[in-house]
Amino acid sequence: MSEETEIKEKSSLRKRADEIKEHRCKNLIAVLEEPNMIKNIGTVIRNINALGVEKLYVVDSQGRLPEDWQDMRERRSLIKPSVSAIKWSFVKTFKSTQACIDHLNNNRFTSVVTSPHIKGKTNVILHEGNFTQKRLAVWFGNESRGISELAVENSEACIQIEMFGIIESLNLGTSSGIVLYEIAKQRRKYQNENKRGRKSDPKIKVK
Ligand SMILES: C[S@@+](CC[C@H](N)C(=O)[O-])C[C@H]1O[C@@H](n2cnc3c(N)ncnc32)[C@H](O)[C@@H]1O
Repeated sequence: MSEETEIKEKSSLRKRADEIKEHRCKNLIAVLEEPNMIKNIGTVIRNINALGVEKLYVVDSQGRLPEDWQDMRERRSLIKPSVSAIKWSFVKTFKSTQACIDHLNNNRFTSVVTSPHIKGKTNVILHEGNFTQKRLAVWFGNESRGISELAVENSEACIQIEMFGIIESLNLGTSSGIVLYEIAKQRRKYQNENKRGRKSDPKIKVK
């Protein structure tokens, strides 16, 4: 690529980044708890970038990812499945579920978990919930074990995508895309209609 083409490409990406800025969902974080496959992490990064989710947190006790975002941005195994979205979406890692919960609590985030199964005290079908709380973290579980009891205990609700097939669950990339699409859609609408802020957080379970 010539230097001139590179400069043009960079400035058009900057322009796009400026255009979408106000449509991104403020204070919305997706959390992956102990994902096994780098390819799935890349897919979720692509989803969060496309849907305007602010950040991705990854609980990664096995050290599958570099700790530093700058180093992740250089990793081919993340660049490819995320189609370079890793360069534009911030990712932070945690050594344990508890460390991630502590960080979110210290920053006054409400957590919700996702599972194909009924978990914890409050369960909500995705399209029946209200997800416009001021600061929201949405957790997704491991590919085979699902979400941990610790994450469930520290969440306000467990979200289910309704399924009508024989199989037990959707995969991580698909389920994160579906859940975050609905949540980001609700939050963008709320942000547009309530530019002056909010009085209090709504309950997640409406019905
Ligand atoms: C492949 S699934 C894990 C399946 C695992 N056997 C379990 O018991 O959850 C990976 C993750 O995708 C999300 N997921 C998959 N299907 C879902 C559904 N129907 N509703 C909500 N989340 C789902 C959950 O976060 C789940 O932990």
